[in-house]
Amino acid sequence: MNLYDVIHRRRDVRAEFTGAPVPDDALARILTAAHAAPNVGHTQPWDFILVRDPETRRRFHRHVREERDTFAATLDGPAAERFARIKIDGVLESTLSVVVTYDAARGGPAVLGRHAIADAGLYSVCLAIQNLWLAATAEGLGVGWVSFYREPFVAGLLGIPAGIRPVAWLCLGPVSHLEGVPDLVRYGWRAGRPLAAAVHVDRWSA
Ligand SMILES: Cc1cc2nc3c(=O)[nH]c(=O)nc-3n(C[C@H](O)[C@H](O)[C@H](O)COP(=O)(O)O)c2cc1C
Repeated sequence: MNLYDVIHRRRDVRAEFTGAPVPDDALARILTAAHAAPNVGHTQPWDFILVRDPETRRRFHRHVREERDTFAATLDGPAAERFARIKIDGVLESTLSVVVTYDAARGGPAVLGRHAIADAGLYSVCLAIQNLWLAATAEGLGVGWVSFYREPFVAGLLGIPAGIRPVAWLCLGPVSHLEGVPDLVRYGWRAGRPLAAAVHVDRWSA
């Protein structure tokens, strides 16, 4: 697969995980790709927690279900009905989870490139996540990002020290297939937006 094939094949996976093992060498390549991401001030502010323990994942999954209910309670009518049909995680079905964290103190206090934009550190972590996601896709694996959680819960569950933020809980593993169309489109939650609507020339245009 060339880079464009990987970019367009990548999918957020929930229902298609098989639970089969992830080969150690593939996991090493995926994490190495994540660790090669661009990052502000060369701080590499990320860490990767590999969560294989079934009980830890079950506890996280119970929390996700509660947060799903919290969100569902904000919906009514057709939106509530649509959301009820949508699967929002594959925590238990996937092979392992990778939790990606952000340490704002790393490389500080003088982080080159972050003095005016504090979020530049978080952007760096997201680039590592994207590298991980694309590398996993190139390996024929699936990734699903789960954000139905409260940060203090995940920090407590995984023993993450104060000051370090969990940014993403990623489910990872072999899949039966990757869908051609995002789940949220397939389930009628939200249609895509054409590229032409996102491109502006010289100034913001309505
Ligand atoms: C920051 C972030 C958080 C997300 N959280 C969730 C989530 O909690 N559950 C879920 O099912 N998908 C989640 N997604 C996946 C998006 O729904 C998905 O990327 C989007 O619908 C487009 O589909 P695609 O990734 O398959 O192209 C998240 C994606 C991002 C970038």
